[in-house]
Amino acid sequence: MFGLKNFGLMGATLLLLTATSCRREEDPSAKNNKTYQPTLVDPKDIFPAEFGMPPLPKDNPFTEEGIYLGRMLFYDPILSFDSSISCGSCHQQEFAFAEPRQFSKGIYGLMSHRNAPSLFNTAYSRKFFWDARVNTLRDLIFEPIQAHNEMAMTLPLLNERLKKVERYKDYFNKAFNSEPNLIDMSLALEQFLLSIVSNGSRFNKFFPGDNPQVMNQSELRGAFAFNGLVDFDANGKTKGADCFHCHGGELAQQQNPVMGGIANNGLDLVVTDKGFGAITNRDQDFGTFKTPSLLNIALTAPYMHDGRFNTLEEVIEHYSTGIRYENPSIHPQLAAHGGLQMNLSETQKADLVAYLKSMTDLEFIKNPKYSNPFVK
Ligand code: HEC
Ligand code: HEC
Repeated sequence: MFGLKNFGLMGATLLLLTATSCRREEDPSAKNNKTYQPTLVDPKDIFPAEFGMPPLPKDNPFTEEGIYLGRMLFYDPILSFDSSISCGSCHQQEFAFAEPRQFSKGIYGLMSHRNAPSLFNTAYSRKFFWDARVNTLRDLIFEPIQAHNEMAMTLPLLNERLKKVERYKDYFNKAFNSEPNLIDMSLALEQFLLSIVSNGSRFNKFFPGDNPQVMNQSELRGAFAFNGLVDFDANGKTKGADCFHCHGGELAQQQNPVMGGIANNGLDLVVTDKGFGAITNRDQDFGTFKTPSLLNIALTAPYMHDGRFNTLEEVIEHYSTGIRYENPSIHPQLAAHGGLQMNLSETQKADLVAYLKSMTDLEFIKNPKYSNPFVK
């Protein structure tokens, strides 16, 4: 790792030297040699030890140039047909890369029919989109680019556009030794997306309970409710609200490697959006959705795949009194409540909200590594 970093520095110095010694009109990287050597980034420098190393694509190693190219593309409106919106228009850093509106507005004001999810720690997810229909980020990016109600772009036109932009000629060359092209574009976006990490919340300092001093009393009680089982006493009261089975661990998101944590959390009796069920066409999947991470949850309202809840209080009320146990595809963990609503006390509800609010990572939403490179 040390060696690689040194190499990067050396490369940069060499480049500077050649840049000053050769004639102005010549591109230094092209003059030097055709094969520009991108600076490898050690995944250990991206992913925190406490999260463990995620499974990473072997054919797309992180490089400084690749990540930076992906970041430029993420914030570049030329990826949309009328050059009006970028990925960053709907995935805004200050809201943990979600956005505050219920449905997203694409070009020409067309609306999406699902709520834009937050983006961080995606390297730990095996399935993407609310209905888990895509397995890799490099495949995923072509959907918003082409969706008529998002960026409505055509791929041939995008290919042409990228080739005309000087900074892309330069950066595709630096990152991939290539002319601007769509495959390398998808790899660069994949690198950038995979590199977005959030682990700075107080919850993350607390987890798995090592540093109780970073939490207040209400948050600590919230942690007990969150991680406690639903178990009714003689008065019909439960100590635990059992959130951890689906939103557990330091990522606050179930990481079932096969299904990526997909569940029906009892929102509706009759589902209108079939979710994962529309992909598999199996009854048991109707109304099941990817379980979101609860990190930064206080920043990503409104909530659920259709943004139906505006506040965390409303979400907690759903789990407390509103679960539709009769829905046939309800998750077994919820079915195990025996059809009884939890009827959480006011204190329990407030404690759970307090605990969820401790999951906000304020450094993350200001981290310049993820910000718009076109805005200085
Ligand atoms: C018009 C708003 C809009 C734009 C522009 C947009 N997205 Fe999204 N994004 C959404 C919505 C809405 C969803 C949820 C769609 C669904 O689940 O069916 C989503 C989902 C995603 C997801 C899935 C996250 C997860 O955890 O499952 C990723 C990753 C993503 N977008 C990345 C991007 C990238 C990269 C771009 C630019 C190429 C982009 N988005 C452009 C609105 C947008
Ligand atoms: C059986 C699994 C399961 C359990 C148990 C569960 N959830 Fe969820 N949760 C989900 C799923 C799935 C979604 C997304 C559902 C959708 O959008 O249709 C979700 C969504 C949420 C959201 C909104 C996330 C967002 O980004 O919009 C919050 C907040 C939340 N859950 C909190 C909790 C709390 C607090 C508890 C405990 C009281 C809990 N959950 C228990 C599966 C579960």
